[in-house]
Amino acid sequence: MTDQWNADRYEKNARFVSELGQGVFNWLNPKAGERILDLGCGDGVLTQKLIDAGAHVLGVDSSPDMIAGAVTRGINAHVADGHALDFSGEFDAVFSNAALHWMTRPDDVIQGVSNALKPGGRFVAEFGGHGNVAAIRTALSSVIRTHTGIRNAPDKIWYFPSPAEHQTRLESAGFTVNRIALIPRPTPIPGDMGAWLDTLAAPVLASVDGALRSVIRDEAAALLRPALCDSDGNWTADYIRLRFEAVAL
Ligand code: BEZ
Repeated sequence: MTDQWNADRYEKNARFVSELGQGVFNWLNPKAGERILDLGCGDGVLTQKLIDAGAHVLGVDSSPDMIAGAVTRGINAHVADGHALDFSGEFDAVFSNAALHWMTRPDDVIQGVSNALKPGGRFVAEFGGHGNVAAIRTALSSVIRTHTGIRNAPDKIWYFPSPAEHQTRLESAGFTVNRIALIPRPTPIPGDMGAWLDTLAAPVLASVDGALRSVIRDEAAALLRPALCDSDGNWTADYIRLRFEAVAL
């Protein structure tokens, strides 16, 4: 599969994603000397904060372009599929920000994280929860269906569970969930909705024929304008985060 991520475009249109990671970083509370896996590390901006806290960090991400960005920052990082983690009892914590919603086989991910952790290790993460980008998802879904007949295209690519669903999955894999919460976070975006869709919905748009992508992007953005763009032209994305802290057996 081609890499739908582009580090330069991400820097311009999605830097806010790592900037908003302070809350989940605080839940992790990394300690000097801990060995931490950053799952879905992207271009490594938040990974660097873990390193600055004195942790020994390995970053993994499925995107070669994002990993190239992380390695350029001097971060120890490599390409890996979060559904097929291959570590065994070696990390004090697994951390993840804004990545788990791209992993549509969550039980495989959770099992890999469980295997990667030492007994008592922490799994602390934040990602899109139930209702996340609901307006954006509905607009994309509707426009894609009109042009291609494909139903619910975004739902094949994004996993946005409720706290109860995700907690059940974690507990089934032997985790104890210390805290889990949905956090509504309407988020001003730096550009317009077209740029957001091109950057952050790239894998959804990639599921349709190339010539149609810009048509679908523009029609979805037009549908969303009344709900998500104010009279001064400022766009806000309807984010809802799911944040949790769980401990391995
Ligand atoms: C999110 O961080 O919630 C998100 C990012 C890209 C697409 C959809 C959701």
